[in-house]
This record gives sequence, structure tokens and C-alpha cells, in this order.
Amino acid sequence: MTQEAVNPIPQVTIPPVEKSHGVLALGCWAFGGGGWGGQDDDLSRQAMQAAYGSGMNHFDTAMAYGGGRSERLVGAFIADKRDQVYLATKGNTPKATAQDIRDSLEESLENLQTDHVDLYYIHWPRAGKDMKPVLAEMEKARDEGKIRSIGVSNFSVEQMEDVSSVCRIDANQFCYNLYWRYPEDELMPYCREKGVAMVTYSSIAQGILTGKFGPNPTFPEGDGRRKMIMLQDNVWPKLYELTEQAKGIADEANQPLTHLAIQWVAAQPGVTSVLLGARNADQARENAAAMAEPAAPEALDRLTAIGDEARRLVPDVGNIFQYYP
Ligand SMILES: NC(=O)c1ccc[n+]([C@@H]2O[C@H](COP(=O)([O-])OP(=O)(O)OC[C@H]3O[C@@H](n4cnc5c(N)ncnc54)[C@H](OP(=O)(O)O)[C@@H]3O)[C@@H](O)[C@H]2O)c1
Repeated sequence: MTQEAVNPIPQVTIPPVEKSHGVLALGCWAFGGGGWGGQDDDLSRQAMQAAYGSGMNHFDTAMAYGGGRSERLVGAFIADKRDQVYLATKGNTPKATAQDIRDSLEESLENLQTDHVDLYYIHWPRAGKDMKPVLAEMEKARDEGKIRSIGVSNFSVEQMEDVSSVCRIDANQFCYNLYWRYPEDELMPYCREKGVAMVTYSSIAQGILTGKFGPNPTFPEGDGRRKMIMLQDNVWPKLYELTEQAKGIADEANQPLTHLAIQWVAAQPGVTSVLLGARNADQARENAAAMAEPAAPEALDRLTAIGDEARRLVPDVGNIFQYYP
């Protein structure tokens, strides 16, 4: 895909956006500790401070991140700057009932020390369950002013269509990065057509696209990357080689690969927000600076070619975590 092809479509904004926010957003999953082999709260606070100080004011968390731990940390951090922060969180719906989402929302509001969230997502669809009661309850919460915009996360086109009779979906949050491009086939064209904002997660492939992992990366107990599809034995050796090539392109462009990979996601048509996790201040600062020096379109085109190769290596297993709730 050339840059010419990606430029004509303007960036969608999440309606209604009452606060200005840039394209980069802070992902707060790791602050919960779970799935990341633990995390120090002080480092999380420093990461938030660094991100906010560098101009990131869209914070993305979820009830599921450490069972509210991430939300509580975010809530405490934003308490004195709530009006300046675009706040997004996600609800837990194990039974997929209206009561489920209502209970989850009320708990999130308490954790986040606020009376409303700017964007509230249903975190995952539940296999075999009708999600309409959940989305209908979210519309009620919007009427009450507790939610400004409604999002779904990890929903397919079919699943979005299914619930569209009971709610207006403003945003979809899904995995998208240079090495996970399956959303380009159906999901992204659908979102563009319907004017649904696109929020990308694992935008740097959980650290892979910083270029920091060697040929045999190891992770602590409890770090979910042990199961991540791109790091499996049948995929990683070749993907590692591609990543080394990508680092060469970044070197030639005189930019860190992290910045180039983030710019690549942000340049794709219709992408509204690029979520970036950070476990400490240095990572947050480096990620926040990703758009400062726009790379030449040729460099991003060369990355696209790497992504085309990666697509042949990474099997479509539904999601990168191999998680099927
Ligand atoms: N809706 C969903 O189902 C869903 C799923 C996943 C994520 N999300 C959201 O999206 C956010 C971002 O996704 P993600 O956390 O999965 O992946 P990511 O942003 O692609 O990667 C984040 C991880 O990469 C490493 N890292 C980040 N910046 C770095 C840098 N500059 N240099 C070196 N290492 C760096 C850190 O881990 P290490 O230091 O441990 O390597 C960090 O935790 C999450 O925080 C969450 O808010 C949502």
C-alpha cells in the first residue's frame, strides 16, 4: 500500500469528542500486573506522568486489568485533571447480561473516581451469547450521562451488525499492527463505511516492534507473551529475521523502529487512536515522541512490504493471545 493510497481519507474522530486528544493514547493494561508477570505501581505512576507530561491525554484501561488495579491507579492519577483527560475503560461481562455490564460500569466509575467515562467499551464478545442486552444497557447508561461514547472491542463485522439494532457503536478497539493485519480485510473497511472510530491495540506487537527481542526471547512466569502467536516456535524465527530487516529500514530513516512502527499504524486510513502500553517513564516518553519527526513515505512503504511478508508467516488464529472467552 502506498502513502498516496492512505492519505485521502480523513481521520475519524470519536463522537462526541469534547476534549482534544492526539492520535497516540496510553494503554494501561500492564499497570494491572496480570498477564505481564507483575508490575510495580510506582513505575506505573511514573509512566502515566511521563505520558501526560508529553502530551498524551487519552488513557485506556479496563476493569479486567488486575481486577480494577489499573483503573484505581488511573483514577488516582487523573483525579486533579479529569477535565483534561479523555478516559476510556471496558466492562466485564462474563454472563453477557444487562446486570453484568451495569455492575461493571458502576465499579469502574468508583475505581476511576469519576461520574462518567468518555468512551466505554464492552471488552470481549462472549462465544454463543447474545450481546444485545449488554449493548442496550450501555445505551441506557449513555442516556444517564455515565457514558459519552460506546465502543465494542474484539467484535467482528458480524458481531457489530448483530448489536447495531440496539445501540449506536461509536468505536471499535481491535488488535492492529504491522504484524497483525487481518483487520484490513473486513473490519477496517466496515468501520470506515459506518464512520466507526478505530482504536488499535498492541500497536507495537507487545514490544516486538521496538526491535528489542533477540532470537530466543524469554518471559517471566505470568507474562502472556509466552502464548502470543508471533512468538511461537513455528513463527518467531522467521519473524525475528523480518524484524531485523525492519530495524535496518529504521536505521536508514534515522528513527527508532518503535517510532516508525507507530507512524505506520497511525497512517492507515481511518485509524483514530493508537494505543501504546508502557511499563515505565522511559517507554512512555519514547512512545509519546513517535510522531514528532514524520518519516518519508518511502520508509513506511518499505515497512508495508515487511508487513506483507509477516502476514504470510503469522497464522490467523482469531487473536494474537489465542484467548477465546
Ligand atoms: N481490548 C483489548 O482486548 C486489548 C488487548 C490488548 C491491549 N489493549 C489495550 O492496548 C494497550 C496497548 O497494547 P499492549 O499493551 O497489548 O501492547 P503494546 O502497546 O504493543 O506493547 C506494550 C509493551 O511493550 C513494551 N514496550 C512499550 N513501549 C516500549 C518501548 N518504547 N521500548 C521498549 N519496550 C516497550 C512494554 O513491555 P515490556 O517492557 O515488558 O517488554 C509494554 O508493556 C493496552 O495497554 C490496553 O490498554 C486492549
